[in-house]
Amino acid sequence: MPTAEPAGTALFLKRWLRRPFAMGAVVPSGRLLAEAMARTALREIDGRDGHVIELGAGTGEVTKALLAAGIPTGRLALVERDPELAAFLRRHFNGTQTIEGDAARLPRLLAANKVERVAAVVSSLPLLSLPGEIVTGIVHGVFEALPRGAALVQFTYGPVPPVPKGLRANLHLVGAHGRRIWRNVPPAVVWTFRRPP
Ligand SMILES: C[S@@+](CC[C@H](N)C(=O)[O-])C[C@H]1O[C@@H](n2cnc3c(N)ncnc32)[C@H](O)[C@@H]1O
Repeated sequence: MPTAEPAGTALFLKRWLRRPFAMGAVVPSGRLLAEAMARTALREIDGRDGHVIELGAGTGEVTKALLAAGIPTGRLALVERDPELAAFLRRHFNGTQTIEGDAARLPRLLAANKVERVAAVVSSLPLLSLPGEIVTGIVHGVFEALPRGAALVQFTYGPVPPVPKGLRANLHLVGAHGRRIWRNVPPAVVWTFRRPP
């Protein structure tokens, strides 16, 4: 289970100094945001089989909330590209599957790790600060992995949907969002995107 907060926060900051654009934030997600992501994910997997895939798990703030919300460890797969963060996740989240790799290769990563069915994808990737072609690769891969009707859960601090308009149109995605979480620093919104069944 999770480690003491300072170790995770210090590691997060250290990795941010190395790759600020890939990390997207200086500190891990706040508790209220992580809990809102987890509540949304739990609602989304109701009645669905398969894994919950967390993209960009970092030091596991959202992971902790997903587990606390009741998602079983055996159904949770964490995808993290940064080797040091992936090693941290392996050490601290026994029973979950940590997959070190690039979310842009999601279908191949899942196949290589024998994850066959996906119930939902939960992402804290900084989609709005990554280059457009990388975001296109990631979002296409997510919807290749997800069955129709199943959701990508993605937060943003910004005022616009975190999946760009052109991609939403190309993939026929329907987006919906919850209330802005004003008490999170910075305030954030949790979105879901899906292809209608
Ligand atoms: C904003 S941090 C979120 C960390 C954690 N989930 C949280 O909410 O505190 C983004 C994370 O995504 C990871 N990341 C960035 N690009 C990635 C990619 N293409 N594939 C997998 N992980 C990536 C970064 O290494 C970082 O850990």
